[in-house]
Amino acid sequence: MPSIYLQTFGCQMNVADSNGLAHQAWSMGCTFTDAPESADILILNTCAIREKAEMRVYSRLGQLKALKRPESKLLVAGCLAEKDRAVMRRKAPQVDALLGPRDYQQFKALLAQWGVPTDLPPPQTPLHMPSSEDAPGEDAPLEYAHLRSLVSITRGCEKFCTYCIVPYTRGPLESIPPDDIEAQIRREIRCGAKEITLLGQNVNSYNFGGVDFAGLLRRLGRIDALERLTFLTSHPHDLTRDVVDALAEVPAIQPRLHLPVQSGSNDVLKAMARLYTIEEYLDKVAYFRERLPGWALTTDIICGFPTETEADFQATLSLVERGTFEYAFVFAFSPRSGTPAATMTPQVPQEERLRRLQAVSAAQNEQTRRFHERFIGETVSALVSGPSKKDPTRMAGKTGHNVTVVWPRTDAAAARSPVANLVIEQAQTWGLVGRVA
Ligand code: SAH
Ligand code: SF4
Ligand code: F3S
Repeated sequence: MPSIYLQTFGCQMNVADSNGLAHQAWSMGCTFTDAPESADILILNTCAIREKAEMRVYSRLGQLKALKRPESKLLVAGCLAEKDRAVMRRKAPQVDALLGPRDYQQFKALLAQWGVPTDLPPPQTPLHMPSSEDAPGEDAPLEYAHLRSLVSITRGCEKFCTYCIVPYTRGPLESIPPDDIEAQIRREIRCGAKEITLLGQNVNSYNFGGVDFAGLLRRLGRIDALERLTFLTSHPHDLTRDVVDALAEVPAIQPRLHLPVQSGSNDVLKAMARLYTIEEYLDKVAYFRERLPGWALTTDIICGFPTETEADFQATLSLVERGTFEYAFVFAFSPRSGTPAATMTPQVPQEERLRRLQAVSAAQNEQTRRFHERFIGETVSALVSGPSKKDPTRMAGKTGHNVTVVWPRTDAAAARSPVANLVIEQAQTWGLVGRVA
């Protein structure tokens, strides 16, 4: 049987797509390997969100050129395949085929073209998903991986934020029918999933036949066996009070909201075409805090967007210093060719982008550590991820707020249970240290 090496870069959307590709290949009888040199088919599912993400893919392509057997095939899938469709063959001639995120219905035909038989009975081997090297610590060992499951509810994005490549690589917005979403969640629960993450570039723009995102959450909340429900990502413009009300009504929804602000300055938000002012953003946050006290608000911030002045940057910094967020992913602006921001003037010098990034990160780290300190002495429940990567004498998991927690791996039986109840003893910037309660 042909064996497949599959490596995933980028966001959860790509992880979900890789699961889909792996499932298709498995249903045709393929097996999986972690060793590229022994694989018949090598697949990189790629990301193009920032230059660094692209460079990681091209450097991996360079390594694979030396590792792969001459007769094996190399497929580049995902956002970079779409973005660099015209130049990839020149930059990486070892690539045999490209499939963008909208092309996956052609995947089986491509495998067939590469000699994978299409008329075999269903495989007897278990579906083994190779890990995503791009999210170290995120992927769980096999015996825990099934506890978390990603379910796409929309595809594409048509917000066209001026810095972002995603609308060009993933195409226009499409919502998946609620019946299909519910059926998939029920299947995942039957296979042991304890936490379902609904995925979309902007889940708040979900709309299928009059069912909006709030309606979808309420409907999914009625699935009895669904223990933990969460979702990524919310665009602030489309987050309505009704969605916040639905979060408050559905007990399975985990106490966290990721609401990327990008900047604290109205001039920059306007140049980004984010469609909200900082006042409107903070209004929504105020309603969220009032309805859902104690939840974690997390965000994304871009530092050094073109035209960002020192005063704009200070507005973002002060937003962070005021403790608006429990956690933030902070990025330096990376120009993506073809997007409006790439040619806006003036561009902020790279060094200055990094200086601002460091200042915002340091301020947020302080806030994050304070947030974590609030858990000291409390008992929290964590969904287990498996033995800690850094220290195998400890177990690791995530709390409902999505905070990493580690604890000593004492009792083997307790270590196998999917949920751990822990008393928190220490707080760090990266997370919590506890002991079994
Ligand atoms: N759809 C999501 C996010 C997708 S990309 C949303 O709208 O929130 C994840 C994050 O990457 C973005 O929130 C943004 O902060 C960052 N990002 C996207 N394009 C970028 C660029 N060109 N340079 C730097 N950061 C970028
Ligand atoms: Fe990109 Fe904006 Fe769409 Fe998010 S909402 S994927 S940042 S265009
Ligand atoms: Fe990257 Fe595409 Fe996701 S560009 S972040 S893999 S949507």
